[in-house]
Amino acid sequence: MLILGLETSCDETSVAILNLNRRQLRLAGFTVASQTTLHAPWGGVVPELAARRHTEVIVPLIDGTLKQAGTKPAQLDLITVTAGPGLITSLQVGVETAKALAAAWHKPLLGVNHIAGHLVSPFLSSGQWLTAKNKNTWPAIALVVSGGHTELYLMPSLAQWKLLGKTLDDAAGEAFDKVAKMLNLPYPGGPEVAKLAKEGNPLAFALPRPMINRRDYNFSFAGLKTAVLYTLKKENQGTRSEATLRVITRRVKLVANICASFQQAAIDVLVGKTIKAAREYRARSIIVSGGVSANQELRQQMRQRMNESLPGARLFLPELKFTGDNAAMIALAGAIQTTARGRKLKDNWATLQAKANWELW
Ligand code: KG4
Ligand code: ZN
Repeated sequence: MLILGLETSCDETSVAILNLNRRQLRLAGFTVASQTTLHAPWGGVVPELAARRHTEVIVPLIDGTLKQAGTKPAQLDLITVTAGPGLITSLQVGVETAKALAAAWHKPLLGVNHIAGHLVSPFLSSGQWLTAKNKNTWPAIALVVSGGHTELYLMPSLAQWKLLGKTLDDAAGEAFDKVAKMLNLPYPGGPEVAKLAKEGNPLAFALPRPMINRRDYNFSFAGLKTAVLYTLKKENQGTRSEATLRVITRRVKLVANICASFQQAAIDVLVGKTIKAAREYRARSIIVSGGVSANQELRQQMRQRMNESLPGARLFLPELKFTGDNAAMIALAGAIQTTARGRKLKDNWATLQAKANWELW
């Protein structure tokens, strides 16, 4: 099965050509055009600019990816595209492009949920694909952590999911980005906070671990972010009277300590709730995906806690190039849904619509 994937839900334009059968997975072509530098001066994604840029780059990117894969449009079996959730004007660029191609090339079309893509992103290599097909991998508990989402799912199999909990306010990545902004760090803030946290002491500030002891699997990061703001305000008092060099040194140390303490508080909650769910549902695996799953400290601490309290369970993490938004995961999720459920391909160029708030559950 040869699948074309398109992803434009936020600020990455991505195209993939995935060659998939029962035993083998091969990513024949893959491109990502990131808009980070475009949005950096504004400290966040500007929807109007994002949509315009998607429009400019998507057709050349599709053309280039087909060439990279040595694929002719006639060879494609399926076109998949992220139909939601995301920024509506960004989503529409991908969806309308996919509809035009499906109509022109006479190909079936499937609108894929963006979160369904993140859920299967760790299986985007031939070895991992075989593990995904193994019954012993399931059930799994899947944590999706990105700039827009923090959700915990029970996955009885590769093609099934049930929402256990989600954030009631900010997503984990959003909290990383907002803390970075408070500290005047460059955008996007998550990787910057993670980098500085390496130099800091995670025990320097006693920040809250919101909802860690609640029985449910929901999350909340807004209070943690506000606690960081108050800590920063308190620590900044009185620095003016000190000598300049001392102020700078103190400031560098303070920023690193805040990053480390904040990151540890967020990780404690994410790891704690995921492990608790995995124990309750007797999961054989844990999946962690989405932009924040690039965080090395989160990866390492999840592995460590699993070794302690879930011996024998497997941890699935996406390769770093598949942690952020990408079309390879959309092509894979589309293919899984098509084959596993024997789903009739209802979407076509006349009916498919972008859905900004499309909920997976
Ligand atoms: O999945 P993604 O690319 O886009 C969304 O669907 O939101 O996730 C982007 C988010 C941003 O908030 C970014 O700051 C965060 O992932 N992020 C990180 C790291 N790398 C990216 N957060 C913490 N540590 C990282 N190393
Ligand atoms: Zn995403």
